[in-house]
Amino acid sequence: MSEQNGLEAFGQEWLPYLEAEMRAVLATGLGAAERHYQMMHYHMGWVDESFQPGEFGTGKRIRPLLCLMACEAVGGDPATALPAAAALEILHNFSLIHDDIEDGDETRRHRSTLWTIWGVPQAINAGDGMFALAFAALLGSKAQGVTNDRVVAALERFTACCTALTEGQHLDMWFEEQDRVEVADYLRMIEGKTASLLATSLSIGALIGGATAPVDDALYCFGRHLGLAFQIQDDILGIWGDPAVTGKAAGNDILRRKKSLPLLYALGHPTVGPRLVERISQPLDEEDLPAIYELLALAKAQAFAEEQMHSHHQAGLDGLAEALGDRALTSPLHALADELLLRRT
Ligand code: IPE
Ligand code: IPE
Ligand code: MG
Ligand code: MG
Repeated sequence: MSEQNGLEAFGQEWLPYLEAEMRAVLATGLGAAERHYQMMHYHMGWVDESFQPGEFGTGKRIRPLLCLMACEAVGGDPATALPAAAALEILHNFSLIHDDIEDGDETRRHRSTLWTIWGVPQAINAGDGMFALAFAALLGSKAQGVTNDRVVAALERFTACCTALTEGQHLDMWFEEQDRVEVADYLRMIEGKTASLLATSLSIGALIGGATAPVDDALYCFGRHLGLAFQIQDDILGIWGDPAVTGKAAGNDILRRKKSLPLLYALGHPTVGPRLVERISQPLDEEDLPAIYELLALAKAQAFAEEQMHSHHQAGLDGLAEALGDRALTSPLHALADELLLRRT
């Protein structure tokens, strides 16, 4: 991450505490079910397939960073938001374990996905375990002196976000079977599956930090637009990203007929659309990809998605300015938002 606006310094200061908090929550019992927790540790990037410790891809830790930064931005002590930050990252990782099963993806963060190693039933169960432990992590806020009222309010936001996330995932999978999906329906889907967790991360951090309601709302709005931009970027990387850099396969979204933004835009294109519809209504395999990439290029689908991404990024920054006033420009939240737009992983 860049050094601008204290972003790197913030991560260096807080990420080690976050990691310790998550390790404590996901601590392995030495009992008969030890492997259950070791599978979670594998996904978190702490151990290899034989459960030997090492340094593996852990992901960008965006959601906990948003939570801790929001807490600090409103005048709170980020230490009090560490349990919530851990909860948000554990919830995110639960969703990835299940998402890789749902999407049939074999690679994430440059490694084999959990289900390809230990099978779908155990992967579902490891995800379920993490889902429950995410709530346990959030309840740990009490030990940091967060009042009961705020813990309950945080739990309400967290639970609403879990529901939104599964609604979004439902739409994502259902849309695979639909020939055409409107941009408005797509936005509803990504709001649920991605934007709600980024927005909730900010609003829980703000809540714990003692934000006023208008600041809390404006930070939620910032996170929502940032999340929409982030998912559109993910859609672009899912088609044109370099697997050696992203650590996940490119082209699989197309083979599954995912209504990611570039594909759904090209499907609705007046001249390219009918050709693309015909092409993807046949059985698809990797050999069909070059022709589909050509049709996406003809429709200028990448440029359209990039435009949409930039407009949500800008709308997000407007929300941040509303929340923080002049301080927005120098906030690490601003730097993180900018950094995300340039991401390649
Ligand atoms: C991947 O999220 C899933 C999406 C919501 C696009 P991230 O890109 O934040 O995943 P990691 O945690 O950094 O690997
Ligand atoms: C992102 O799903 C949202 C969740 C995981 C809940 P995607 O399927 O778009 O994300 P990647 O590309 O697999 O990380
Ligand atoms: Mg996926
Ligand atoms: Mg998915």
